[in-house]
This record gives sequence, C-alpha cells and structure tokens, in this order.
Amino acid sequence: MKISCQNVDFEKDLQDLVNLFFDEEECPFSIQHNFKKENNLLTSVFVVETGKEQKEYQKTFILKENLDKLLEKSFMKRHFKNHLYEILTVLSNKSLPWGSLTGVRPTKFARDLVERGEIKPHLVSETLVRDYHVCAEKAGLVTQILHNQKSIIKNDNLVDLFLNIPICPTRCNYCSFISSELKAVAGKVDEYLDCLLKELEAVKKVITEKSYIVRNIYIGGGTPTVLTAQQLDRLLSQITYPVSEFTVECGRADTITKEKFDVLKKNGVTRICINPQTFCEATLKRIGRKSSNQEVFDAYMLAMQYDFVVNMDIIAGLSGERFGIFKRTISTLLELYPHNITVHTLSVKNASQIRGEEIKFKDDITKMVDYAEKTLMEKGYKPYYLYRQKHQVGGLENVGFFRDDFVCKFNIDSMEDTSSVIALGAGAISKRVFNLENRIERQPNCKFIEDYIARIDEMIEKKIKFFS
Ligand SMILES: C[S@@+](CC[C@H](N)C(=O)[O-])C[C@H]1O[C@@H](n2cnc3c(N)ncnc32)[C@H](O)[C@@H]1O
Ligand code: SF4
Repeated sequence: MKISCQNVDFEKDLQDLVNLFFDEEECPFSIQHNFKKENNLLTSVFVVETGKEQKEYQKTFILKENLDKLLEKSFMKRHFKNHLYEILTVLSNKSLPWGSLTGVRPTKFARDLVERGEIKPHLVSETLVRDYHVCAEKAGLVTQILHNQKSIIKNDNLVDLFLNIPICPTRCNYCSFISSELKAVAGKVDEYLDCLLKELEAVKKVITEKSYIVRNIYIGGGTPTVLTAQQLDRLLSQITYPVSEFTVECGRADTITKEKFDVLKKNGVTRICINPQTFCEATLKRIGRKSSNQEVFDAYMLAMQYDFVVNMDIIAGLSGERFGIFKRTISTLLELYPHNITVHTLSVKNASQIRGEEIKFKDDITKMVDYAEKTLMEKGYKPYYLYRQKHQVGGLENVGFFRDDFVCKFNIDSMEDTSSVIALGAGAISKRVFNLENRIERQPNCKFIEDYIARIDEMIEKKIKFFS
C-alpha cells in the first residue's frame, strides 16, 4: 500500500512508518495525508479508506514561533509521524518498540534534543516515551547509552581513518553489505591494494598539511583478513599513526592464522572482531557461512595470547533460528566473555539473498533481542552505541555492548556523527563534521572494486578537495 501526501517531502517518512506496521501486501487500507498551516497552527488530516468505508482523522498542533524553514519542516514531519503512529496503533492493534521514530539514530536524535536545549538531559527517557511513543525499555536503553558515550570529543581537527576491504572468502546468504567473493576478484586484489596505498599516501599529505590528528583507525569490510599475511603487512605497515585504538575486522574465523595475528600485532592493531553470528552449526550451514564454532574458539584463544580487545557480532533472526537456539548462542558468548559484543537484528535488504517472506518467527526475534539486551546487562555488559537500519525485522535495532572500559571509540564516533572520517577504498564513504556549524558533509568513493581501480585518480582528487 502506498500512502499519498499533499506534500511529497513527507511521503517517504510516513510510508516508512506504515511499512513497519504492515507488510506491503497485507495492508488493508489506503491512506491520504493533507495539512493546513495557519500562523503557528498546524492541522494534520489523514483519510483512511478500506474497501467499504472512509474515515478521517484530524489533529491540530502548535508550532513553535520563529523557527527557520528547515527546523519548521522537521517539526511538521515529527507531528505528522506522531499523528499517523497514533492512528496506525489503533487500526492495527499493535505498537512499535521505537514508536514513531524512523529514519533517525535514536541516540543521536536524543543528544540533539538536549544540545539544542529542547529538553534537559535527565528528561530524555520521559520525552521519548511521551512525545514519540518509544517503549520504556528502549527509551531507558537510549539514556544508558548516552551515559556510556563519555569518549566523545567534538573537535574538528580530530579525525578517524577507515579503510575498506570489500572482499570475503564466500558470501553469507543474509548479508546486506557490498562485498565480492575472493574467487571473483582474486586477480585484482594486488591492484586494489596498490590503489588503496596510493589513496593513503595522498591522504597522509592532507592530514599533515591540515594538521589533522588521527584518533582511531578501523579496517573493515568485507573480511580484511581474507588478505594474505604478506598483503596485510604491505597495507598495515604504511599506516603509522600512533593511535590508542586500531581495529581490524577479521570477521570470519576461518581466515585467521597466527601469521596474520603476528602482522596485526607488529603493526599496532589493538582490537579485532571475530564474529560467530550464531553458535548453531546447523544455522551456519543454512546461511552459507563456511566457518565452524571450533574455528571461532581457536581464533579467540589465539587472540587472547596477543592481548587483542575482541568484539563478537551475533544476529537475531537468522534463517530458521528459534528463541531456544539464540539463547544458547548468548550463553556460549558469555562463557567466552569477549570485551565487546554487538547484537544485530536481521535486516532484510535487496543486497542479501533472503527475502521478507522467509522471516517466519518475528515474535521470536523480538524476544531474542529483549533477552540478549537484558542478559548481557545482567552479566555486566553495558550498551554504548545503537543504530537502526531500514528493513530490520520488527523495527528493532543493533546494539554494541562493552565490558569494563573497553568501548570502541570509532563505533561511537561513526554512529553519533561526532568526528570526521577519512574513508578509503571501494564503497568507503568519507564524512566531514563541522561541529560549530552543526553540519555534516559526505563524500562517497565508487562502490565496486573494478570502478574504484579504474577511477582511483578521480577518487583521490575529490578526497583531497573534500578534506582541504
Ligand atoms: C560489515 S559486516 C562484516 C563482518 C565480517 N565480514 C563477518 O562476516 O564476520 C558487519 C556485521 O554486520 C552484520 N550483518 C551483516 N548483514 C546483516 C543483515 N542482513 N542483518 C543484520 N546484520 C547483518 C553481521 O553481524 C556482520 O558481522
Ligand atoms: S557477513 Fe561478513 S563474511 Fe559474510 S558476506 Fe557479509 S561481509 Fe562477507
């Protein structure tokens, strides 16, 4: 069902909200939205039509006076979404964990409310529940995360460095990231590294000239450890900034070797990711993830010898998994006790090989996410970043947890948009944060390895201009 709006600028947000309540084919209504603005009085009207009858819902809001155009539009959107949310909860007899919040990162949204002086910090939770219909548990989570994000420093000279290796040993069927299978690009890996190193050299000059200070480094993917130890050394030995946090997302345990860990350690890496996704071997087969539990355990034990801070990713909602299996994954994870755990909710995007209709156990997935968040916190883990993606089952979220003091500053910076990111490689998106002006600009590189190689000089030129 498509919503039709008087002002198309609001259509996408309102449609996103409808999609969270009803699967496209299931929605039994057609909805039309109109509004009237007279001075600071805003009247929103939704006309909902089923086959037989038509019903009109009208609500009037008071807009703040003297708002600039952009802020006024954002307030109007908020009111319309809240209005629609209230109608849809009645029509569907359902509520959503994140209420009317769509298309925003809840923690960043709350921080902005506080920083703009709209609310006091101690009223975050109350405001999210009262004004945006967020459930009390999720609103509490936001408050805790804001409290745990002490590492944020807003300084336009501080930058994070990100390098992308969008290559994997094989493709997992749920994955929504752009990444090529090694066998498809095997002949181009060295050429890709040549280009990445060329981009790095150019960026190093800008960093020096503009007196940027590199605070954190993150090598992500894909699966960076799909590279050989020699290739990894060739790349890492050129990254010489003295940072306290340097992450390499190893990801798939079957790509990890002692030789590669030696290279990471030698080049200053402090944090790695070894991602089980699930500890159920039958699920691993089903999702086409060719990595075993034993390989995860072995890689983790080896990582302990190198003193790496370790993150582990899991996903709630993997193909065929019911609550009981997920619960066992959490319990194995807690026995391993990694420094960081990231709990993802399955997102069903076009780039993955699975489709919405394959998600059979939606209620189980809500239960899984609630259980993971509650259990990890009971065992001493604290939430420190959160984000939501489109098409996440049940409109749920991804949450990063840490134990002791092991937060990943890069993850906080990138989710909260508090620091510029110089991002290199295919598919990497650079971000420039202008803290004083409260403004962000983004600069994407070409998405695919082949285009990136072909257009490297153009990428470099744009990047230099962007950060100058
Ligand atoms: C950029 S991926 C790289 C990780 C690494 N290649 C691996 O597989 O271990 C980061 C994480 O995103 C999560 N992820 C990927 N596709 C997802 C999806 N469709 N829904 C939810 N989480 C997803 C996985 O937990 C994965 O570990
Ligand atoms: S989940 Fe990781 S290993 Fe699997 S395809 Fe996606 S990026 Fe590659």
